Amino acid sequence: KSIVILVSGRGSNMEAIVRAAIPGARIAAVISNRPDAAGLAFAAARGIATVAIDHKAYADRAGFDTALAAAIDAHQPDLVVLAGFMRVLTDDFVRHYEGRLINIHPSLLPSFPGLHTHRRALETGVRVHGATVHFVTATLDCGPIVIQAVVPVHAGDDEATLSARVLEQEHRIYPQAVRWFVEGRIALGADARVSVADAD
Ligand code: GRF
Repeated sequence: KSIVILVSGRGSNMEAIVRAAIPGARIAAVISNRPDAAGLAFAAARGIATVAIDHKAYADRAGFDTALAAAIDAHQPDLVVLAGFMRVLTDDFVRHYEGRLINIHPSLLPSFPGLHTHRRALETGVRVHGATVHFVTATLDCGPIVIQAVVPVHAGDDEATLSARVLEQEHRIYPQAVRWFVEGRIALGADARVSVADAD
């Protein structure tokens, strides 16, 4: 299966997926909306095609998304993976990749969609927090859930300690979700719920 990964920055989730060396998965390209994204250098060093499409060069979201989709579709991906990709995508874009576009979000959705999830979790006083891999739909951070990881919130936590604990789990569940997809085990039901078939 051909996979395209979209990043905006550090790219540690992309790195975890690349390092997982999932049988049957070929990382066809890593694409960033920021030319200086650290993740691009890692991918290039591994011989993966890299593309930077600077969103600032486009007058509007639709123009950027059209250019982005063209760059993605050049690789005919079976799966498009958002890994710390910090741009909201247009409905047309999301529809074009329906059922083959996934994202990781640093909270236990449906709690804390949007930004600053760790800060908000600490402010709210939740005892557990975590991360969610989900299919992307038109509503931000709302699509069908594929896998989640739960981490405890400790009394002395600050944003740095909590986000590090969550990130460690992100690096586990994102490659797992991609592996399931590549193995053809993920079904997206008409009820917008995901089921994962047992391994053969
Ligand atoms: C991760 O916490 C991810 O859940 C969020 O942005 C962060 C990206 O980190 N959407 P990285 O670029 O994968 O290191």
